[in-house]
Amino acid sequence: MPLRAYVCPSILNADLASLASECKKLLAAGADWLHLDVMDGHFVPNLTFGHPVVESLRKSLGSEPFFDVHLMVSNPGQWVEPMAKAGASQFTFHYEAIDGGDVAVGELIEKIRKSGMKVGLSVKPGTSVEHILKHAEHLDNALIMTVEPGFGGQKFMENMMEKVRTIRSAHPELTIQVDGGVTPENIDISAKAGANAIVSGTGIIKAPDQSVAISTIKNAVEAVIGKH
Ligand code: DX5
Ligand code: ZN
Repeated sequence: MPLRAYVCPSILNADLASLASECKKLLAAGADWLHLDVMDGHFVPNLTFGHPVVESLRKSLGSEPFFDVHLMVSNPGQWVEPMAKAGASQFTFHYEAIDGGDVAVGELIEKIRKSGMKVGLSVKPGTSVEHILKHAEHLDNALIMTVEPGFGGQKFMENMMEKVRTIRSAHPELTIQVDGGVTPENIDISAKAGANAIVSGTGIIKAPDQSVAISTIKNAVEAVIGKH
């Protein structure tokens, strides 16, 4: 399938007391994927929500929206079945969260695939891109963190673009996602490096007009898609 641009607003910094209506607003503004950040207070020093919230959102928003679930948790494998049942569309886990190296990563990829969800693998800023490359042909989504995971509103790490370029040159059709500090103002950097799935939290949530922020990001990616 040819590459597409996906704008993935992160709801981490949204008004969590009005989560469903915040999500509906983002979808109406043109969001392609809803990026749902799951944190356990152990893998990262912050705590958010888990599959019960994903399930409630699925009930409230219906079967259509794509739920891009980013698991920043230790032992992510234990949440595969609950997340699949809750209605997650894609399950992206961290290489660093896995004991047992690449064999265990491969097994978890297989387990997620069998559950019916799409599969993503992520690396933190300090982790080599080689760990993504090893599994790339089995992935739907390669997530390059452009901040240390844990919090929204941090500064974009431009030096992560080398990882994006490395994956893009080896895998012209793989979806590459960037997450952390990406905004309508700096989107060109990620788009030019070859990212096509763009997570943006505060850059969209706090924008004066969310549909302008989303279309600015989408247009920047579409302008260069397939040209790497
Ligand atoms: C960070 C999360 C991100 C974050 C993005 O650990 O994975 O998804 O919410 O928010 P911004 O775009 O504000 O950095
Ligand atoms: Zn995220």
